[in-house]
Amino acid sequence: MAREWNPESWRGLPIQQQPVWPERGALERVEARLKRFPPLVFAGEARNLKARLGQVASGKAFLLQGGDCAESFAEFHADNIRDTFRVLLQMAVVLTFGAKRPTVKVGRLAGQFSKPRSGDTETIGGVTLPAYRGDMVNAIEFDADARRPDPERLAQAYNQSAATLNLIRAFAQGGFADLHRVHRWNLGFVAKSPQAARYEDLANRLSETLDFMAACGLTSESTPQLRETEFYTSHEALILEYEQALTRVDSTSGDWYACSAHMLWIGDRTRQPGGAHVEYLRGVKNPIGLKAGPSLAPDELIRLIDTLNPENEPGRLTIIARMGADKVESGLPPLVRAVEREGQAVVWACDPMHGNTIKSSTGYKTRVFDRILAEVKGFFAVHRALGTYPGGVHFEMTGQDVTECLGGAQAITEEGLRDRYHTHCDPRLNASQALELAFLVAEQLNAERVEDRRLQTAS
Ligand code: TRP
Ligand code: MN
Repeated sequence: MAREWNPESWRGLPIQQQPVWPERGALERVEARLKRFPPLVFAGEARNLKARLGQVASGKAFLLQGGDCAESFAEFHADNIRDTFRVLLQMAVVLTFGAKRPTVKVGRLAGQFSKPRSGDTETIGGVTLPAYRGDMVNAIEFDADARRPDPERLAQAYNQSAATLNLIRAFAQGGFADLHRVHRWNLGFVAKSPQAARYEDLANRLSETLDFMAACGLTSESTPQLRETEFYTSHEALILEYEQALTRVDSTSGDWYACSAHMLWIGDRTRQPGGAHVEYLRGVKNPIGLKAGPSLAPDELIRLIDTLNPENEPGRLTIIARMGADKVESGLPPLVRAVEREGQAVVWACDPMHGNTIKSSTGYKTRVFDRILAEVKGFFAVHRALGTYPGGVHFEMTGQDVTECLGGAQAITEEGLRDRYHTHCDPRLNASQALELAFLVAEQLNAERVEDRRLQTAS
């Protein structure tokens, strides 16, 4: 694309999934305010994440990306942030210790406030109102006031993101994430869940390793790697007025960075090659994600890669496949082959959530845990068959003991969904299911390693 890029060059291009803001002037006033707010992240951090993802692209690390489907203003609470973070740490330790793989940790949080929807409106009992598009845009309650898009919400989303990120940074750097606390991350309902014993066993082995290291002189005081972790943030870049207002020039490189999060992704519904979202994201230097569903044709993917990563920079682009358990083994290989043929360096991640959403007989939007696991297994099988690297997973979870996805070791039933169905949008894995998923991924990665050794000795 020869076209000149700037933070507002997306304006005027075809754009999907946008609210109809009732008053342009009010929106512009909020944008002007946001432009003066401090950036939430710093360009150097986004560059570090890109380097880490470059390691993933070359098969040396694994990407763990997860969090809420949509964050909400109502559930903004330190305990919720802590619980989500804690489960992500548990999953990360399962991968790092259980599968001996450096794990790049990216939260779907501190900015995940907007949602693409299947329709612009929703009709209940003959009343038609604008669809709920996330707390950054309108409120979920079905009444005309609540559903009216309100630009003040952009500022509120910024503030909540800042506070969330502040707490997460404190947890990641201030001692909470110290590996010596591995047993203490297993408190709350997870300690009583079916995954607890398995996790305890792993934690015991890790503790023993840490004791040995301490005897050798490697402690949390002497070794910051044991005490701290790098944790990054991400969300879907959907509301471009918000993203543009937080786009800043990095003074050290002169490049533009999106400073609302370290990583942003383009949704499956907004990835049109000539569209506004692709235009905006091609110009910022952050690592970015691209959701790829079954409707994405291989040649279209190649066009998108040419636009989004023309320098073929490893770590710049993560393709997040969300095919569905029954389509992954047919839908993913043509995409992987096309990317290989073009010699493009990308990270392949698996989103096993969005292609597996169904309606339960009791009326809830849900996902069957076994289908989620089946898609992850299919994803690994495809890469094993093609000789490419399965680089990561992207999923929707919460640290709370919700009942939103069917099955898992807790065997949540269709009747059981109504017990604690709290999501603002899509059904999420609860902490126990999330941990179960991490153990499955670790097994798959270990199988890979055994396979590699077998091939090495055979050759
Ligand atoms: N710093 C290392 C890492 O982030 C080890 C580590 C510290 C860690 N705390 C952690 C790993 C918590 C997983 C979870 O990988
Ligand atoms: Mn979702």
